[in-house]
Amino acid sequence: MEEYIAKVLISREELAKRVAELGAEITRDYAGKNLLVLGILKGAVPFMSDLIREIRLPLAYDFMALSSYGASTQSSGVVRILKDLERSVEDVHILITEDIVDTGLTLNYLIANLKARNPLSVKVATLLDKAGRRKVEVSPDYNCFSIPDEFVVGYGLDFNEEYRNLPYIGVLKPEAYKSI
Ligand code: XMP
Ligand code: MG
Repeated sequence: MEEYIAKVLISREELAKRVAELGAEITRDYAGKNLLVLGILKGAVPFMSDLIREIRLPLAYDFMALSSYGASTQSSGVVRILKDLERSVEDVHILITEDIVDTGLTLNYLIANLKARNPLSVKVATLLDKAGRRKVEVSPDYNCFSIPDEFVVGYGLDFNEEYRNLPYIGVLKPEAYKSI
C-alpha cells in the first residue's frame, strides 16, 4: 500500500500533537455544556476517535453517514442521509467532526439539516481544510490543518475505500490512480 505514497504531507506525530491541542481548546470551550460529538462516516472515524480522548469532559457521540451524488472524488451538493442520528438533539450542543472540508457543499447541507432540529448549537471541527476550493461560504470553527488543493489519503481519507488506515496524511503517486 505505501509504495503508492509520493510524499507524507502530515506525519503521525504532527497529527497527534495538533489533535491534542484542538482537544484542549474544545475542553475549554465546552466546559459545563451538554456536548454531542457527531462523526461523519467514514472519513472522520480516526480523527474523531483520537479527538474525543483529548476532550476531558463528559460527552456523548453518534454518527451520520452521508452520500453525495456525483463522481467519487467530488461533491455535487445534493446530499442523501444514509444513516441518521439516534435521538433528538434539542438539549445538546452538536460538534460535527469531519475529515476534510473541500467545496463546503456537504457541510453546508448538514449544518442546515441539523439546525432545523433545534439543537443548542452546531459547530464544526475538521481535520483538514482545503479553503481554496470553497464553492459556498462555510468555515469550520476548529481546523487542524489547512492544505493546498491536492488529493490526500490516510487517517480516514480514502481513494476507492483504500488507504484509510494509514497513520499519516499522504499524497498518492499518479500510478495509484492507474492501478484500478
Ligand atoms: P465537500 O466538497 O462537500 O466534500 O466539502 C468533502 C468531502 O469530499 C471528499 N474529499 C476528499 N477525500 N481526499 C479524500 O480522500 C481528498 O483530498 C478529498 N477532498 C475532498 C471527502 O469525502 C470529504 O468528506
Ligand atoms: Mg467524508
